[in-house]
Amino acid sequence: MLPRHVAIIMDGNGRWAKKNALSVAFGHRKGVETLREIIRYSSDSGIEVLSLFAFSTENWNRSQQEVNALMQLILEYFTSEIDELNENNVRIRILGDISGLPKRQRDTVQASMDTTADNIGMQLNIALNYGGKDEILDAVKVISKLVLEEKISVDDIDEAMFEEHLYTAGQPPVDLLIRTSGEMRISNFMLYQCAYAEMIFPKTLWPEYTVEEYKSDLQAFAKRERRFGGRNL
Ligand code: FPP
Repeated sequence: MLPRHVAIIMDGNGRWAKKNALSVAFGHRKGVETLREIIRYSSDSGIEVLSLFAFSTENWNRSQQEVNALMQLILEYFTSEIDELNENNVRIRILGDISGLPKRQRDTVQASMDTTADNIGMQLNIALNYGGKDEILDAVKVISKLVLEEKISVDDIDEAMFEEHLYTAGQPPVDLLIRTSGEMRISNFMLYQCAYAEMIFPKTLWPEYTVEEYKSDLQAFAKRERRFGGRNL
């Protein structure tokens, strides 16, 4: 079966650049090519939600040069791809605190969300200035205020209610998490949504990850036996 929601940590751009004696900025640029292909295939194959980790709250600690290169790529991507994404009925949501982005990037990603808001095809989540712990804390703060203002009682707080306060409100949980480059960590990505996610860790560096390999990872997912804490015997 096809996963409803795939989340991807696109790791290995830096190592790919080093291996090829290229700048890290070029590694990220090459990574955008992979991202474009994976988005296209996901949308064509009927995946409902695709979430991509593009920039974490910790990525600001990289060199100014690398941060600038990533910000430039984000600007270019959202400007050059918006028409095709819109034609393909893709709906964009940014996960993360976009108020922390530079103004040009903020305006461009906001415009991409507005332009695609009524689309009914694949939901594309791009995590920008995103942290999974922050996301949970933000939800806790909003819900705490509702309790303090006596708009809800503590007993009203259940999973469904909590999930409506996450950045992914209204979306199904992550079925499959893929992290390329051989690292086996979740790195603060969609902590709540990955509670029962199957995980696949291809050794391939993100710029070398292909649609063929993605297809085989989706097939591997289809063979997994998911129990959600139960027993299938
Ligand atoms: C991890 O590789 C990748 C990132 C931190 C950024 C991923 C971003 C993109 C693919 C492009 C920008 C996104 C958009 C939406 C245009 P790494 O640099 O940590 O690799 P390393 O571990 O090998 O150094």
